[in-house]
Amino acid sequence: MKIGVPRELKDNEYRVAITPAGVREFVVHNHEVIIEKDAGRGSSIFDSEFERAGAVIVPNADVVFAEADMVLKVKEPIEEEFHRLRDGLILFTYLHLAASDKVTTALLESKATGVAYETVEYPDGSLPLLAPMSEVAGRMAPQVGAHFLERENGGRGILMGGVSGVAPAKVVVIGAGMSGMNAAWIAQGMEAEVIILDTNIAKLREVDRIHKGRILTLMSNRLVVEEIATQADLVIGAVLVPGALAPKVVTEEIIKGMKPGAVIVDISIDQGGCFETSKMTTHSDPTYVVHDVVHYCVGNMPGAVPHTSTYALTNLTLPYALTLAEKGLREAVTTDPALAQGVNSYAGSCTYEPVCQAHGLEFTPIEKLL
Ligand SMILES: NC(=O)c1ccc[n+]([C@@H]2O[C@H](COP(=O)([O-])OP(=O)(O)OC[C@H]3O[C@@H](n4cnc5c(N)ncnc54)[C@H](O)[C@@H]3O)[C@@H](O)[C@H]2O)c1
Repeated sequence: MKIGVPRELKDNEYRVAITPAGVREFVVHNHEVIIEKDAGRGSSIFDSEFERAGAVIVPNADVVFAEADMVLKVKEPIEEEFHRLRDGLILFTYLHLAASDKVTTALLESKATGVAYETVEYPDGSLPLLAPMSEVAGRMAPQVGAHFLERENGGRGILMGGVSGVAPAKVVVIGAGMSGMNAAWIAQGMEAEVIILDTNIAKLREVDRIHKGRILTLMSNRLVVEEIATQADLVIGAVLVPGALAPKVVTEEIIKGMKPGAVIVDISIDQGGCFETSKMTTHSDPTYVVHDVVHYCVGNMPGAVPHTSTYALTNLTLPYALTLAEKGLREAVTTDPALAQGVNSYAGSCTYEPVCQAHGLEFTPIEKLL
């Protein structure tokens, strides 16, 4: 197979979908790898390193998309990339289709096969290819929150850890999955007062088991969210219903009741956001204010730490990409049910049920099409 890797175009997105170790692995298995010039530069991986590992550097993304059988990317295609999608191409990347009509339509109309990192799912419901970036975003959330809590950045002027004799910031994390658990962990390490909420008691038990009471756990329900969010200095939204739009756990009414200068970090924004007042922002303009509450809603938080993120991501995506290259789509999908869950579009059909529901599209199981 010919594997293509373009440079990411999303605002301030410096990750790249392959490392020299990945190139080496494909080449050893007799596949070809073409990489757009300077695709890795933002992650401090240079063309010469890719070439040493056996890749061919090509001048632009048009060549990558036109020649490759499978394109590996990090983020969903943006509008200026839509025309490059085509029938027969496998696009293996984060897609987040439930949150975007435009990308869904472009992918279906192109008839390309869209395999989404975020919906590859193990039988126990865990999401192996979302996990590494959730870990990064979760660990970033308290440091971002701490920054925007500073007065000159629009916040209430509260130091996360407080000082002796002065209360620390009160941090509420909604969702105790991969990102939420990591966010709570780092916030607690900064010596904030941390409360974590989830609807799944098993997740809360896990937090209790690890943190031995240093992080307060509460079952998430409407009343608890209303009460606790209004007392918070920083609320971090980290909920997920796999593949579907995020539930709006924090309503505009609750936001109105929050302290002026409080900060929200909506990690779930890539699935539409879990605060009613959230709208996607970018690293170059990351915040806006609604009802005196600072909103940070960057959809690609790990893009700010590309070196860490590129390695964390590709460590996990490479085995699946290699399976696709070795076996081809049909065999890879029929022999690996986790990977089959990743196929969101095939030959113009929507093959992932929550995405179909989000857009009112007909659902066709991938097994029926192959
Ligand atoms: N913004 C970014 O840059 C970025 C980066 C990585 C991941 N993400 C996103 O972060 C979100 C969370 O990902 P994750 O890997 O932590 O998911 P996860 O599945 O590990 O955890 C989600 C948790 O939310 C809980 N939950 C669901 N509905 C809830 C509700 N109503 N109230 C409270 N808890 C609820 C689930 O029980 C689960 O424990 C996803 O949307 C993911 O795409 C965003």
